[in-house]
Amino acid sequence: MTTQWLGGRVVENRQWTDALFSLRVEAPKLAFQAGQFVRIALDIGGERVARAFSLVNPPEDPVLEFYGVIVPEGPLSPRLAKLKAGDALQIASNPAGFLILSEVPDARTLWLLSTGTGLAPFLSILRTETPWQRFREVVLVHAVRHARELVYRDMIAGLQKERGLRYVSFVSREAAAGSLTGRIPAAIADGRLAAAAGTALTAETSQVLLCGNPDMLKDAAAALAERGLRKHRRRAPGHVTTESFW
Ligand SMILES: Cc1cc2nc3c(=O)[nH]c(=O)nc-3n(C[C@H](O)[C@H](O)[C@H](O)COP(=O)(O)OP(=O)(O)OC[C@H]3O[C@@H](n4cnc5c(N)ncnc54)[C@H](O)[C@@H]3O)c2cc1C
Ligand SMILES: NC(=O)c1ccc[n+]([C@@H]2O[C@H](COP(=O)([O-])OP(=O)(O)OC[C@H]3O[C@@H](n4cnc5c(N)ncnc54)[C@H](OP(=O)(O)O)[C@@H]3O)[C@@H](O)[C@H]2O)c1
Repeated sequence: MTTQWLGGRVVENRQWTDALFSLRVEAPKLAFQAGQFVRIALDIGGERVARAFSLVNPPEDPVLEFYGVIVPEGPLSPRLAKLKAGDALQIASNPAGFLILSEVPDARTLWLLSTGTGLAPFLSILRTETPWQRFREVVLVHAVRHARELVYRDMIAGLQKERGLRYVSFVSREAAAGSLTGRIPAAIADGRLAAAAGTALTAETSQVLLCGNPDMLKDAAAALAERGLRKHRRRAPGHVTTESFW
C-alpha cells in the first residue's frame, strides 16, 4: 500500500538546547494509540526524506507534537530543528508501533524507561487515563547525558502532583543534584533504580517498557532477565516491551 501524506504546518518550534527541539504541528486528524509513532517528512533536493517520530501528544489532542534531537550528520533531523511557525511538513497517515498499553499485561507497577528522545512516547501514554486506571504505581525514568537535557519537567511535575507519578532521572556525563549517576542497566542490577523509585522491580509486580538507544534496550533487557523479567510476546506473555529508535 502506498503511503498517503497529509500536509501539516508547524505552529511552534521549541528549542530546549542547541540540539533538542519540540515541534507542534497542525495537521488533519490522525488516529493513533498513545505510544505509537508516525513517519514525518520534508522534501529535500527533490526527494521526500521521511523518518519515524513518536507522538508526544495524547490521541485526543488536535495538535501533533514531536520531540527530536539533532543528529548533526543525519539528513532529516537538522532540517526539522530549523523549521519555524508556518513552515510545511508532511505526515504519513498511518501511525504504527507496539509500545502501547493495549499490548501490555496487567501488573502492580508500570515502569517506563527511556534514554534521550525515547521519553516522547511515554509522555503521550502518561497523559491518557489508561496507566492510572490499570496500574497502582507508574514510574517514569529518563536518562540523559547532561542535566539540561532533562526536558518536559513542568509536564512531569504536573503528573507527579496530580497523578502520583514516580520520576527518576539519570545524568551520565556530569554530576547533577536530584539525578542518579551512570546508566539504567547498572542501576537495575545493583538495586539503585528500585530504591530511587521506592518500589520493587520484580517479575511478580512489574511490566517494563523500554524506549530509546538500542544498546540501552539490550543492556537493560539483560539486567531485567537476571531478575526474571522476560521479553513480552503475545503468544508467550512476559514483562518487557521495547522500542528501538535506531
Ligand atoms: C519507531 C521509531 C520512533 C522514533 N521516534 C523518534 C522521536 O520521537 N524523536 C527522535 O528524535 N527520533 C526518533 N526516532 C529516530 C528518527 O526516526 C531519526 O532516525 C532521527 O530523527 C535522525 O534522523 P536523521 O535523518 O537526521 O538521521 P538518521 O540517518 O535517521 O540517523 C543517523 C544516526 O543517528 C543516531 N540517531 C537517530 N535517532 C536518534 C535519536 N533519537 N537520538 C539519538 N541518536 C539518534 C543513530 O546512530 C542513527 O544511526 C525514531 C525512530 C524509530 C525507528
Ligand atoms: N544530547 C545532545 O544534546 C546532543 C547534542 C549534539 C548532538 N547530539 C547527537 O545525538 C545523538 C546522541 O543523542 P542522546 O545524547 O540523546 O542519546 P544517547 O547517546 O542514547 O544518550 C542518552 C543516554 O543514554 C545512555 N546510554 C548510552 N548507551 C547506553 C547503554 N548501552 N545502556 C544504558 N544507557 C546507555 C547515555 O549514557 P552515556 O553518557 O554513558 O553514554 C545517556 O545517558 C548523537 O548522534 C549526537 O551526535 C546530541
